[in-house]
Amino acid sequence: MPSCHPQTYIGNVVISVNPYRSLPIYTPEKVQEYHGCNFFAVKPHIYAIADDAYRSLRDRDQDQCILITGESGAGKTEASKLVMSYVAAVCGKGEEVTKVKEQLLQSNPVLEAFGNAKTIRNDNSSRFGKYMDVEFDFKGEPLGGVISNYLLEKSRVIRHVQGERNFHIFYQLLAGGSAELLQRLRLRQDCRHYGYLNRESSSLPGVDDAANFRAVQDAMGVIGFSTDEVMALLEVTAVVLKLGNVQLSSHFQASGMEACSIPEPRELEEICQLIRLDPSALEQALCSRTVKARDEMVLTSLSVSQGYYGRDALAKNIYSRLFDWLVNRINTSIQVKPGKQRKVMGVLDIYGFEIFQDNGFEQFVINYCNEKLQQIFILLTLKEEQEEYVREGIQWTPVEFFDNSIICNLIENGTCGILAMLDEECLRPGVVNEDTFLGKLNQACAAHRHYESKETQNAKRVTDASLPPRCFRIHHYAGKVTYNVTGFIEKNNDLLFRDLSQAMWASRHPLLRSLFPEGDPQKVSLKLPPTAGSQFKASVATLMRNLYSKNPNYIRCIKPNETKAPMLFTRELVLVQIRYLGLLENVRVRRAGYAFRQLYGSFLERYKMLGKKTWPRWAGSERAGAEALLAELPIPAEELAYGHTKLFIRSPRTLFDLERRRQERVAELATLIQKMFRGWRCRTQFQLMRKSQILIAAWFRGHAQKHRYRQMRRSALLLQAYARGWKSRRLLRELKSQRRRHRAASTISAYWRGYQVRKTYRKYFRSGASARLANFIYRRLVQKFFVGLRNNLPPLAVTDRTWPPAPYRFLAGTNQELKDIFHRWKCKKYREQLTPQRRALLQAKLCASELFKDKKTLYPKSLPQPFQGEYLGLTQNPKYQKLHAVAKDKLVMAEAVRKVNRASGKTVPRLLLLTTEHLVLAEPKGAQPKTVLSLGDIRSVSVTRFSDGFLALHLKESSTGGTKGDFLLVSDHLIELVTRLHQTLMDTTAQALPLHIADQYGGGASGWAGPPGRGLQGRVSWGG
Ligand SMILES: Nc1ncnc2c1ncn2[C@@H]1O[C@H](COP(=O)(O)OP(=O)(O)OP(=O)(O)O)[C@@H](O)[C@H]1O
Ligand SMILES: [Mg+2]
Repeated sequence: MPSCHPQTYIGNVVISVNPYRSLPIYTPEKVQEYHGCNFFAVKPHIYAIADDAYRSLRDRDQDQCILITGESGAGKTEASKLVMSYVAAVCGKGEEVTKVKEQLLQSNPVLEAFGNAKTIRNDNSSRFGKYMDVEFDFKGEPLGGVISNYLLEKSRVIRHVQGERNFHIFYQLLAGGSAELLQRLRLRQDCRHYGYLNRESSSLPGVDDAANFRAVQDAMGVIGFSTDEVMALLEVTAVVLKLGNVQLSSHFQASGMEACSIPEPRELEEICQLIRLDPSALEQALCSRTVKARDEMVLTSLSVSQGYYGRDALAKNIYSRLFDWLVNRINTSIQVKPGKQRKVMGVLDIYGFEIFQDNGFEQFVINYCNEKLQQIFILLTLKEEQEEYVREGIQWTPVEFFDNSIICNLIENGTCGILAMLDEECLRPGVVNEDTFLGKLNQACAAHRHYESKETQNAKRVTDASLPPRCFRIHHYAGKVTYNVTGFIEKNNDLLFRDLSQAMWASRHPLLRSLFPEGDPQKVSLKLPPTAGSQFKASVATLMRNLYSKNPNYIRCIKPNETKAPMLFTRELVLVQIRYLGLLENVRVRRAGYAFRQLYGSFLERYKMLGKKTWPRWAGSERAGAEALLAELPIPAEELAYGHTKLFIRSPRTLFDLERRRQERVAELATLIQKMFRGWRCRTQFQLMRKSQILIAAWFRGHAQKHRYRQMRRSALLLQAYARGWKSRRLLRELKSQRRRHRAASTISAYWRGYQVRKTYRKYFRSGASARLANFIYRRLVQKFFVGLRNNLPPLAVTDRTWPPAPYRFLAGTNQELKDIFHRWKCKKYREQLTPQRRALLQAKLCASELFKDKKTLYPKSLPQPFQGEYLGLTQNPKYQKLHAVAKDKLVMAEAVRKVNRASGKTVPRLLLLTTEHLVLAEPKGAQPKTVLSLGDIRSVSVTRFSDGFLALHLKESSTGGTKGDFLLVSDHLIELVTRLHQTLMDTTAQALPLHIADQYGGGASGWAGPPGRGLQGRVSWGG
């Protein structure tokens, strides 16, 4: 063994010897040295295999698993941590990645605290199996992981041998928990207080439990545990510890049966305070048991030993379930979101092979698991490899090796395997104990080469003092182990009294309650739970399937001495390990065999760039391609072997040489691609820039030319404007002087001619010239006035009185005269075009105006009403036949009036007819004339000056109608009636009708009064 370098290889299997002291070979500088290294070009190292596995995973897309095996204390857990820390150091950076890495790494201290313990062989012995899948994305950055745990050695919770310890967490909690925390958990700091800690304080040299407790707390924080979760976890841990202190004592019941009770209930009460449960419920569950007897539930008391058994089973169950919960909780934090594509690297760190003085059920299953792992190793490194050489037609001398499948079969065989028989015994009715189980084993396995017991030895007449009774021995691959069957049945059954699980479920502590779902009375199941052995077998089978599906990498750990001492190499001990691990056969196969094999297709695909003929494409068969490729390379022929489908390379050096060449070539090709790409990119960019430059230049030139043109145009226009202005000014000057000259000439000639004319005619016009001139001017002005008037005559409408004003004052009188003449002329013209009826109407209107204008208020209202005369429709209405006769052709006016009764003042309707001769009043009903007055009888007429329709007809006394007195009538057409009466009288008698308009009537000239007794009674006032 190298004194300062504890690792070596067999092929690519790393052999690591536990140095038992810290060596300076795990520094960050070493990580850098091994990062991307050539496996065989550097010193053997765990980092080298980790790097190789990580690169295969990242670059070749192969899922990897790293199998770390060796006996207890050989350094498996440390190796697994080194692998993890190496991968964490080399795989990507970034906030998220660092967080994932931290979570993955920090799961170790937490799980070690709860799952590791000091044993005689190892101060930090893993008491559970751990398989951790780390998941990566396509870039090789970690995404998360999944941890699987296998069979925790829970019996350690209640019992451990002298010199060993219980699980670390108990000591860490007591040593590192603050006084406040311990008080809250109702714990005492002194380990010697606790039964489950063997009432001894066993601190480990070089281990600071208090510091480790703080580290565990920090790690839980990093993983993502909430403070409540941490507290709940510690509470349940404290409960387990305190359960060990619950003491039972026996007493006899009245029936004489032994019963147990809890004499000192303090510890129980504190437990119940922690888990929030009624102490009596827990006491009852611990001291008694409900049994079903003939459909009835009967409570039976337990004996003290049964009570202790139940108490311990409860403690074990709580702890192991708590551990499962812990693993699941960590998985929840580190699990990868579904849907992401991932590559997996599995790291297996399982408890090592164990041979103790007294080996029990736990050692049996641990060793079974190691047996299975050894089987994988044999299968993949020795058996399959040799079979492959034969299959591929490679010349091969077989190497003998021990195939341990016979031992695996002895344990796991479905019908006659030890585990199957144990299960059968557990499930069998009747008397069942370890002796019956051992008897069965002896029967079934008597002939097995790897099985021994007192009974089989006796049968063969062998005396062996080392094999006591109640024991059996298995010849494991790693040595013979004697197992004591005591406790096998009980541990395999792993039963917990239902009363206890129900009590736990009844507690109001959410975490503890969730650990015992079967305690829910609603979910009582009579089905027996699977046995511990069968569960373990199933999980080992799953693990094996998982490992077979990945590319294996081996780290074989060797323990150099039994005393955990550095620099001490016990040859015999190491030799035993080398032998049972099958390392010698491994070396032999490696020496004779080939380090590397690959299908021709894959080989050609990976290395074709190394040969001129094969790059970039090979047209022939894959094998021919591989041969052509290798022929071009300086590789000795003995290094290669051509199988039927695969190429074999003998030494790893050749493979690494190939890899190195490939890397160089890939770099070359990458440079070429880069070169081409950069060239193309530059060309494209240049072309683009050139195009843009031409475009910009064109636009710029265009812009400059346009600008210049605009400037030139502006200048030209300016010059033009100046020139034109100058020309125009010159012309203007010229024209002005011409005009001045012309005017001067005209003036001079006018003066001259005037002078000439005056000189000629002076003698003729000397006297009367001014009057004639004035007359002439007057005439011209008048003529101009008349012509202007003729051309602008005002409108011909009668009502239009507009007339232009006189242009000169001397024409004002004439102008007024002409205005009047013009108006009269317009009126004449208007009259001439009137019809006789219209003329009569207008005459009547004129007459009415003369009679009433400004005298009676009613008059203005009558102006717009035309005088119709006939308001009754005499001709159309046959009812008025008689009246028609009266009127004949002399009718002037017919209308309905009301006659005022002189006596009562009431009015009666009457029809009034005015003819050229008579005035007739008729009854409306019969149309019979009632009163016929000759016009000559009418003396005068009176009306008021107001707007009423009253009319008083004064009759001459001589008249016939006059006998009745004057008539007082009310007419709606008073103005017309009086006017027509007046006109008719004028026409017939040529006398005007005397009309009185007054405020009142009754005597005098302004009113009228009939003769006494005939006229209206008294005086009637018009107004008021
Ligand atoms: N590479 C190493 N360098 C220094 N010390 C080591 C190394 N490997 C192991 N040790 C020491 O050996 C002890 C036991 O190692 P480890 O716990 O890894 O053994 P194990 O194989 O996991 O045992 P078990 O099967 O009992 O779990 C460690 O606590 C440590 O002190
Ligand atoms: Mg370990």
